[in-house]
Amino acid sequence: MYVCLCNAITDKDIKQAVTEQGAGNIRDLRNHMSIANQCGKCTQITQQIIDSTILDE
Ligand code: FES
Repeated sequence: MYVCLCNAITDKDIKQAVTEQGAGNIRDLRNHMSIANQCGKCTQITQQIIDSTILDE
């Protein structure tokens, strides 16, 4: 599903950045993709996806 509509980023994109690139927070994620940098509505769900992906590892 799309998480960040402004940048067309999906939950799979986020999970991949966490598992393959080691992103642990939104700042890390922004090193790999443009996310949560426009309207900001996706910030909370993005952090939740990062956290749940880390817990699943
Ligand atoms: Fe992510 Fe707007 S939905 S910045």
